[in-house]
Amino acid sequence: MPDNDQIEKINGDFKGKDVISIDQFDRRSFEKIFTATDQIISQKDSPHIQTLLGGKLVTLLFFEPSTRTFSSFSAAVKRLGGQTLEYQNPMQTSSAVKGETLEDTIKVFENYSDAIVLRHPEIGAPEKAAQAAFFSPIINAGDGAGEHPTQAMLDLYTIYQKFGKIDAVKGLVCADALYGRGVHSLIKAFGLFQNVTLYLLTPEELKLSQELLSDYKKRGVNIVEIHNEADIPNDCHFWYWTRLQKERYNEEKNIKMFRLTQKLLDEKGNKDMIVLHILPRIDEVDIETDADPRVIYLTTQVKNGMYIRMALLGLVLGSL
Ligand code: CP
Repeated sequence: MPDNDQIEKINGDFKGKDVISIDQFDRRSFEKIFTATDQIISQKDSPHIQTLLGGKLVTLLFFEPSTRTFSSFSAAVKRLGGQTLEYQNPMQTSSAVKGETLEDTIKVFENYSDAIVLRHPEIGAPEKAAQAAFFSPIINAGDGAGEHPTQAMLDLYTIYQKFGKIDAVKGLVCADALYGRGVHSLIKAFGLFQNVTLYLLTPEELKLSQELLSDYKKRGVNIVEIHNEADIPNDCHFWYWTRLQKERYNEEKNIKMFRLTQKLLDEKGNKDMIVLHILPRIDEVDIETDADPRVIYLTTQVKNGMYIRMALLGLVLGSL
């Protein structure tokens, strides 16, 4: 578990700061990003929002594949009137092939742009990048099995948008809790709010490490580990699904993920809840559930990913 205590805290003021880990956040900082996202959504067609990043250039440096995070950051910059310098697959196409270090790559890109959004397979790479950068804010777009802070922001925002609160929510998180970075940021983020209960449904092989379980409990999240669909309570505000992170373990293990099916929704769900998914989905979801109005991960949740990143960039680059 990386020590994130050295990274500068947000304390409600994002301007010029790195965004590496949920450990930098307090409740006020989350509330600020929620309010900024409300503003982005309500004023998205105004000249003010459409020119917020006028004259700014943001580097997107993605050492791991991405559909949503890459594209939503790219769309976010452009919808705010800024421009992007986009680098996907730098291990094949940049001078990293010749052995250039991540640190030097960051030092180069910060001369060209106003912020760097970094996805990297190595846990702690964004922190390393932030230490290397002289002046450019670094935004973590996912580091190995470490964290995915902007994913947690959009997930919590989507819950807040539906229920008007995060305090006292009860959720089911069906996840690869061992290798899934999104779930780590998600649980840490819930720890900034009061009285949250999470039923963590995992295959036995992919449950949280004892170290992380104990850390998350200390943060105040009431985590109930379950390994059977029969133990899902029927009064959840949300269900949150993830895929197996097969790229991070030996596939020969043949671990089975729990499936989201209409039958399960009908038996264990309730009419007011929402169903989220970190995406991509592979084979852990029955496609027929797409027609269920509670399932919002390919609509509202994805769209909120762009809005939350617009808000974050506006705050970090100091124009919101
Ligand atoms: N949720 C998420 O991080 O998706 P991508 O890997 O497609 O960016």
